[in-house]
Order: sequence, then structure tokens, then C-alpha cells
Amino acid sequence: MSESLFSSITASFLDRFGGSPARFQSPGRINLIGEHTDYNGGFVLPAGIDLCCRVVIAPTQEARSVVVAFDLNEEFSFDANALPAQCPTWAAYILGVIHAMGKRGKIIGNFQAVFSSDIPIGAGLSSSAALESVFAFALNDLFRLQLDRMELTRIAQQAENEYVGLQCGIMDMFASIHARKDQAIQLDCHTLDFRYVPLHMNDHLMLLVDTGIKHELASSEYNVRRQECEEVVGLFHDLGYAVQSLRDITMQQLEMQRDRISPLLLKRARHVVSENERVLEFVKSMQEGDWQSAGQLLYASHYSLRDDYAVSCNELDFLVKTVKPLNGVIGSRMMGGGFGGCTISIVEKSCLEAVMEAVNFAYQESFGIAPKSYIAQTGNGACAI
Ligand code: GLA
Repeated sequence: MSESLFSSITASFLDRFGGSPARFQSPGRINLIGEHTDYNGGFVLPAGIDLCCRVVIAPTQEARSVVVAFDLNEEFSFDANALPAQCPTWAAYILGVIHAMGKRGKIIGNFQAVFSSDIPIGAGLSSSAALESVFAFALNDLFRLQLDRMELTRIAQQAENEYVGLQCGIMDMFASIHARKDQAIQLDCHTLDFRYVPLHMNDHLMLLVDTGIKHELASSEYNVRRQECEEVVGLFHDLGYAVQSLRDITMQQLEMQRDRISPLLLKRARHVVSENERVLEFVKSMQEGDWQSAGQLLYASHYSLRDDYAVSCNELDFLVKTVKPLNGVIGSRMMGGGFGGCTISIVEKSCLEAVMEAVNFAYQESFGIAPKSYIAQTGNGACAI
């Protein structure tokens, strides 16, 4: 499969530059549960998918690097040792990686590359993290920088935080770089300890339904939520608690201090604290093969994101509400940052067709567009091909 996906960008590279390039890919991600917990030092449970960002790349002696964005039919040229102040939006992800490497004293030479991605943009599947991750991985290999996967993950996150300007957490890049087929990653975003949890789905599968929208609020509200969480941490600090992040606060402590916290901040904190608990419970249920309980946790996560954290939207709520009463649907929730993107639902294989038909019909009726659906297949993290 990846062979054919690489063939057109390889042909394009050879046509444009010649030589014998190397090939790398890095996947998008799903997240089973643990939303808006990563930047709060909490738990997440993502997995890599089989949709990837792919790059064909080689070092060059030329004075400038050239990167071709195959899907956009655009290219950008720059000197890797004197990064330009202005660049196309897509190139910022790549320059951000080079910049973050430079900050660590890792200087690269110029290179030529063609990249392409089959991860839908704006669907909450982390297409940008995959782009950063594949370039971090490829440049590390090409210029023998000897950075390990953990450092490459930090570099990819730093690219997004400092160069692109989105204050995202570490989950997306972590998954793109560390993923393993048929496994989810239980990651502690405070210590960065992680373990692989086998995804024995048996008679179930993971259905992603894309709302097809991304509301304007997505990035501004994301940063507001981060600030709100920091405010609660500050408050607990002032009350004498030794806390670094919401991860260190229990539900009991939150309840004890509820009169000292504004109702809004209480809701925000309650989401994060309860979501952390849900991740641990979800892993336990999954390992016991108890899909019914796991499914209930997905609904609980959705309601918490909708009511307490206020990052859902009509379209996402509609999708969850529509699938809930259907035969064979075990659980469903919004996935990723919110304000659009996908829902993730666990569905019995035998009921998939009927579920998809019902969802497509209902969504089309209400919003006038047919939603795109994907059956999430897991895949490996960043690698050479
Ligand atoms: C986005 C961010 C992640 C994470 C999720 C919400 O995908 O990039 O770091 O915060 O939102 O869980």
C-alpha cells in the first residue's frame, strides 16, 4: 500500500532533482480517550493510524533547500542555515522543525524533498503533527543528528508551539513518532512514561465520522482553556497545595475547595480531573474485554467535554446523539481539540453498514452535507521505508 503512495512522489522527486533519495513516513493519530489532558500533565490514549505524511528526501550541496508540497503543487526554497522570516503556511511546520533542531545545536545542511499526505486536513487526525514528525525523523536520519524519538517528539512540538504558534500539548507528535500497529499508547504527559496497550478490538471497530467543519473558535478557545487550567493551578498553589498541574489535583480536593473557585473554572478543572480518571478506567475495561463499560466512558468523556469544558459544537453533539441509540454502537465521543473535526465511535462490526447509513442520512438532512467516514486502522510510527 505505502509502495504505491510513495511512487508518485518518488517519480516527482526524480523528475525534479534526480539522484537516489531516502523515503520516510509518519502517521496521523486517533485518540481513544483523554482529551485536553496532555497540556495538563495528564493521561492520554492515542494510536497511530494508517494514513500518513510521506517524504522523499536527499541532502544537497546546493546553497538552498527546496521542498515540494506535492498535494498543493507548490514549492518553497530557502537556506536551511538562515531560515527566512516569511514562508507559506505549510512550510512553517518544516522550518519550525529545523529551528527547534538548531536551538539544540543540531545544524543540518540543505536538502531537497517532495512530500504528500493522505491524512485529511482539519479532521482532527493531526495532519500537521505528522508533517512535523516526518521531517524531524527524516532530517535526523539524513544528517545523522543522533536524536532519539523522545527528543524528536519534543522538537516537533516545539515547532508547532514556537514557530507555527499553536500552544498544543505533546500527544499528537508523541503518537506520530511512537505509534505501533495494533497498539494504543498510554502516555503520562507529566513524566512522559508510556506503555503500549494492545488494541484487541475483536468484533468491534473504530468508526470516525468527520463533521467536515472546523469552527473559527478552535485555536483561540484552545489557548483560553489552557489559561483557565493554569488559573486553577495558581489558585491551588495560593491555597498551599504543592501542585504543578491539574494532574496533581484530585476530585476530592476540587470538591473541598469548590467555594473558592468560580463556577466556570470549577467546570474546566472537573473535566480534566475526571478525564484523567476515565483514561485509567478505560484501559482497565479494554484489557478486561469489557467493551460496554469502555463505551460508557466514551459517552461520559463527550458530555464532560461538551458541558464542563465547552469545546464541542452542534455538529459533534448531533453525531454522538444520532449514533447512541443505534444497534451495535458501544460508545461515541468527539475526538481531538473540538469545535469540529471527527467523532470516534466503537461499533460492532456486524452493525457497521447500518450505522453508517443512518448517520449519513441524518447528518445530510440536518447539515446539508454528507459526512466522510473512516474505519480507523492502526499503523506504525515514524519510520524509513
Ligand atoms: C489537539 C492538540 C493536542 C491535544 C488535543 C486535545 O489535538 O494538538 O495536544 O491537546 O487537541 O486533547
